[in-house]
Amino acid sequence: MSHPAAATALRDAFGRELRYLRLSVTERCNFRCVYCLPQGCDREQAERPLSLAEIGRLVDALAGLGFTKVRLTGGEPTLRPDLCDLVRRVAATPGIRRVGLTTNGMRLAELAPELRRAGLSSVNVSLDSLDPDRFREITGSSGFERVLSGIEAALAAPIPTVKVNAVLLRDVVDGELERFLAWTRHEPVAVRFIELMETADNRELFRERRLPAAELQARLLRLGWSELPRDPSDGPAATFGHPAHVGRVGLISAYARGFCDSCNRLRVSSAGDLRLCLFGDQTVPLRPLLADDSQREALAERIASAVARKPAAHQLAWGACGSASNLAVTGG
Ligand code: 5AD
Ligand code: SF4
Repeated sequence: MSHPAAATALRDAFGRELRYLRLSVTERCNFRCVYCLPQGCDREQAERPLSLAEIGRLVDALAGLGFTKVRLTGGEPTLRPDLCDLVRRVAATPGIRRVGLTTNGMRLAELAPELRRAGLSSVNVSLDSLDPDRFREITGSSGFERVLSGIEAALAAPIPTVKVNAVLLRDVVDGELERFLAWTRHEPVAVRFIELMETADNRELFRERRLPAAELQARLLRLGWSELPRDPSDGPAATFGHPAHVGRVGLISAYARGFCDSCNRLRVSSAGDLRLCLFGDQTVPLRPLLADDSQREALAERIASAVARKPAAHQLAWGACGSASNLAVTGG
């Protein structure tokens, strides 16, 4: 397929070209991950997420500003009944070259073929443990087998890129690193370990179970893995390969110095609030400009002037109810 040349990219005040939108399509979730959902916080209250038409207008405007990639996130995006329509709409937008999805995988087995037909380029499936009991402890769900079937269905569809995201927890890595690595020996999966990020709601967990990315990196190197040259499409992940494995291992070190230097993304919440940085609290409401096509120019102007205020780097820690699920760092 040939693509029209990308529009000139928006640049922020630090010269970073912005081409990548992470869009939350719902805050609802069918899991309760220990590091994500705060106790007693009900993010399912009275949600009115952006509609298909509103999302279409948003993506049209961003494509006009040079954006080429969109990732749909949540909450859990597969809880939206119109997810395949959303993927189709975004994939059909002139200028958009890649549409990704971040999901917990519970509904992936049934959705993978239609998502592929709709034009999905990549899927990142969260899978923090390969042990069903530990999986249940972390996610609050007994859907371990369903998630595995979902990953298989995505590989079989095939959705062109399938990645598995595992949040780095010390006890899991101590017990399961070999199992995760063995999985990459014959399967072309990319397993990406994400350093746990501290939020206002997971401080205790962070203190007790965090494994710094640098420790995993040292273990990988000792096991004969080596870092591969960086591809810009990897986003912030460092990728490791091993001569005896067809799959890859990725490492996302949110606390590493320089992590934000190549940030090329914006984030929009399910209610249409633009967020300039995952960790910042600056938001710019876009929904009022998404109601009809007549406001397209005003929308583009609002986005461009917000981008000029994008901060240089994040300031950890952060956290408010619902923000953890929208992590801007996990998409490659
Ligand atoms: N630290 C690191 N990763 C997180 N995720 C959610 N919360 C956190 C956190 N506090 C990851 C999940 C999932 C994606 C949506 O974000 O693993 O892959
Ligand atoms: Fe749901 Fe993702 Fe948060 Fe887990 S990390 S509770 S799957 S939104």
